Amino acid sequence: MFGPRKSLESVTRHDAGHKLAKTLSWPHLIALGVGAIVGTGIYTLTGVGAERAGPAVILAFAIAGAVCACAALAYAELATMIPAAGSAYTFSYAALGEALAWIVGWSLILEYSLACATVAVGWSGYLVGWIQSAGVALPPMLLSGPHDGGIINLPAVLVALSVMGLLIAGTRESATLNIVLVIIKLTALAVFIAFALPAFNADNLQPFMPYGFGSTEIGGEKRGVMAAAAIVFFAFYGFDTVATSAEEAKNPGRDLTIGIVGSMVVCTLVYMLVAVAAIGALPFLQLANSPEPLALVLRGLDQPLAAHLIALAAIIALPSVILVMMYGQSRVFFTMARDGLLPRRLAKVSERSGGPTLITLLTGASIAIVAGIFRLDEIAELANAGTLLAFIAVGACLMVLRKRAPDAERLFRCPAPFLVGTLAIVGCLYLLFSLPSSTIGRFVIWNLIGLAIYFLYGRRNSVEGQTSAM
Ligand code: ALA
Repeated sequence: MFGPRKSLESVTRHDAGHKLAKTLSWPHLIALGVGAIVGTGIYTLTGVGAERAGPAVILAFAIAGAVCACAALAYAELATMIPAAGSAYTFSYAALGEALAWIVGWSLILEYSLACATVAVGWSGYLVGWIQSAGVALPPMLLSGPHDGGIINLPAVLVALSVMGLLIAGTRESATLNIVLVIIKLTALAVFIAFALPAFNADNLQPFMPYGFGSTEIGGEKRGVMAAAAIVFFAFYGFDTVATSAEEAKNPGRDLTIGIVGSMVVCTLVYMLVAVAAIGALPFLQLANSPEPLALVLRGLDQPLAAHLIALAAIIALPSVILVMMYGQSRVFFTMARDGLLPRRLAKVSERSGGPTLITLLTGASIAIVAGIFRLDEIAELANAGTLLAFIAVGACLMVLRKRAPDAERLFRCPAPFLVGTLAIVGCLYLLFSLPSSTIGRFVIWNLIGLAIYFLYGRRNSVEGQTSAM
């Protein structure tokens, strides 16, 4: 009913010319993970979270982090067991069947492309603020898309296209640059914590949960701890892109585990410190919905130079999130095309760079268009919906494969897999239904379009379907 399933052996076997080069080792993979995780979520959505939950945004970060930790453990086991490009899509193909794998892959396309576009738009906001604060006037029509009163968000388009150029130049070079950018953004967060934490005032934590726990509509907006968790969830994902690079890892067993679990642990610790420092330093209403909450806190503490540097670090380093997400997106697309579910000629690997050039071009151009037209809030929550569905599938794949292939080689074994898998699924469902109903509606439409493409094209052209019919 769910279409053919791939055997565990066949997902890691590919013809020459459709195989990615093994160029990445664990420092690259941790940096790839942290590069994708630390971005617009912690730099800007902390303010939106504070608006939705009050000081309990700290709790929202903890909940989103705990759900992601369960998903990360499941990812680590599956990525080391099935070290092939495509992550959740590939796992689902082996565990759940082609039709469900297609839905997961289609959701991953939404996750990666919209997350890239969100960060491109957020970056554009920082850059424009930075240039204008130096007294330089810019033409407003070229700074935002038609949904925001302009014509096109040109800086967002340019940053998306530049990152695409880097990826086409070659995976390893891009991953090395990514390490430098990761160091810059982690240093900026460390500076933030060093200035803000000593100013901690317990009075700012009262009342702790002004809008309650569950996600409820108050004044036309979703409020409560879960409503905040559903948006700050954006800050945590990205570790899954490490799994999309499995085929390119030199030593998948050890390196992927260190990459996925390590990047998640580092980021959760840093986020908790940043959230406590930000909320303790200023009354939450001042933070609420600020486009640059961390800089705002530092200015509030009379540290204009530190505020300036945080903003500069965001401008320099946020493109690393776009880089890693676009990389993940091109690899998922590549795998789906290699499987025949999308036109197979797209999956040609360039001899020079070892990467899929045509797919990277298509991916980059679509992201640039979305970033040029849409508003940040329109795209961030939809990206979350796509990610949550992929994480639910990964939790299910973990449990299904433990049952179906208990003796298959697993280089990393997730502890208490049935508990962790169930917690990942239940947690992600709870977060998904805490999103605004308009977002859920758009997500359903996206998947209906996806299913139509699958039944009209993918099912007929599937390499696996043709092989199993022979
Ligand atoms: N976690 C990434 C970010 O916060 C998507 O930008």
